[in-house]
Amino acid sequence: MNILAIESSCDETAAAVIKDGTEILSSIIASSQAMHDKYGGIVPEVASREQLKCILPTITEATKSLDYDAIAVTIGPGLIGSLLIGVETAKTIAYVTKKPIIPVNHVLAHIYANFLDSRFSILDSRFPAIALVVSGGHTELFLMTNNKDLKWLGGTIDDAAGEAFDKTARLLGFGSRGGLAIQETAEKSFTVKLPRPLLHDDTLNFSFSGLKTAIMREWQKNSDHSKKFVSSLAYEVQEVITDVLVYKTMKAVETYDAKSIFIGGGVSANLRLREKFQKTDIPFYCPPISLCTDNAAYIGSYAFFRGHPVDWHSIEAAPNLIVEV
Ligand code: KG4
Ligand code: ZN
Repeated sequence: MNILAIESSCDETAAAVIKDGTEILSSIIASSQAMHDKYGGIVPEVASREQLKCILPTITEATKSLDYDAIAVTIGPGLIGSLLIGVETAKTIAYVTKKPIIPVNHVLAHIYANFLDSRFSILDSRFPAIALVVSGGHTELFLMTNNKDLKWLGGTIDDAAGEAFDKTARLLGFGSRGGLAIQETAEKSFTVKLPRPLLHDDTLNFSFSGLKTAIMREWQKNSDHSKKFVSSLAYEVQEVITDVLVYKTMKAVETYDAKSIFIGGGVSANLRLREKFQKTDIPFYCPPISLCTDNAAYIGSYAFFRGHPVDWHSIEAAPNLIVEV
């Protein structure tokens, strides 16, 4: 079964054709990220205008010489203006082609980037699994009892891990290059010590908002903002975020006697995070780097494994779509 998947929740416009949930036949991404640089953050108005410009060429390119049986579309969470472009386009295609349409939750779908690999069509031995979604807007833990049943276990009570990376990157002068810039800069020249938030409470929740205050304090305390200081601070920030993510995920593994770990979302591209998970004594799966940040391929995979076709009339963009399933 081929699914045409459409993703437009933020500043990426993406379309892909996915076969049987595991094989990428095409995947096209257009991004307006660079256009937001001068504003210090994503400007929703600019993002949605770019979505409108890019949506048809992106879908046309992705479907060139490929047929499909159903359409999947991200309905939320995300920016309303951006979501509307993908959702209304998908509904129009469903109406014109009379093909089934499947609404997709963007955050849950990040996990399915792991399934875009034929090895994952037989998954039983990996469950129950703990799935960690770490992106710019979300930090969530789920229990997966098979390849479609998900139960939300906990999440951030304030900032997401990606947001903590992004705010630090901006403070250190890396503009909108976010977590990737922190990863590339991180090097321990001397010791900077930051607190590890929420490491020893009883929940599976996270909190990263205190981190930015602690970083700011370190920044102001030191008059020396040399390259060595910046790289040492970046190193420690990356250590704190990855320590907390691994600690809470392992706590969930113990609580639910899980057999494996899946991670997904933009922050799952982080090499230090992968290294720490690889050192644990439990099978660990992460998507290829190119499938961690926003794209439509995992939207198509999610739709295959977990989606349900609905009447196109009933689909609406849902900027605040919940992830506590
Ligand atoms: O999943 P994503 O593309 O968009 C959302 O759904 O939010 O995630 C974007 C986030 C940003 O916060 C970005 O800084 C972070 O992923 N990110 C990284 C890395 N690459 C992207 N964070 C840490 N290390 C990386 N290598
Ligand atoms: Zn995302």
